[in-house]
Amino acid sequence: MTAIQAPRTPAVTRRKGTNWEKWGWIYMRASGVLLVVLIFGHLFVNLMVGKGVSAIDFAFVGGKYADPFWQVWDCVMLWLALIHGANGMRTLVNDYTTRPAMAKVFKWALFLSAAVLIVLGTLVIFTFDPCPAGADPALVASFCATR
Ligand code: HEM
Repeated sequence: MTAIQAPRTPAVTRRKGTNWEKWGWIYMRASGVLLVVLIFGHLFVNLMVGKGVSAIDFAFVGGKYADPFWQVWDCVMLWLALIHGANGMRTLVNDYTTRPAMAKVFKWALFLSAAVLIVLGTLVIFTFDPCPAGADPALVASFCATR
């Protein structure tokens, strides 16, 4: 028979304050449910509808980011997935990293990479302009009016 070891992290009984571990646990389930809809909707629309995967090019992405519906869809997917992924990796660090200093380094790296990607991704989604005014006509896409 296989004996399962007791968890390394001791059980903590909280009496006061916000139980962030509990909310993190709930967040993983709630975001998981939403991500199923967002990720499979994203894959279906990008890869299967119309000409499917062969239709994906710069103009396809430009067209999607000209539509507030897809801006909001992609932005919600970006935030939910990055926070979900980083919080999930935090759980793995808690479970498997034995040296507290290394755990701290890993968790800061997770936090910083998720924060940078969330800020950059959100900026791209809402500021993306396929035909920037004043750009060199030789460098912009063929469908831009300046060409
Ligand atoms: C299809 C949508 C998804 C669903 C339904 C889902 C669901 C879940 C659930 C319920 C957990 C908690 C598992 C546990 O506590 O034992 C989890 C953990 C995790 N998820 Fe997701 N997830 C999805 C997408 C993603 C994405 C896109 C990423 C990466 C960005 C990701 C990364 C992780 C990681 C790293 C963990 C921690 C793994 C662990 O504890 O063993 N998941 N997921």
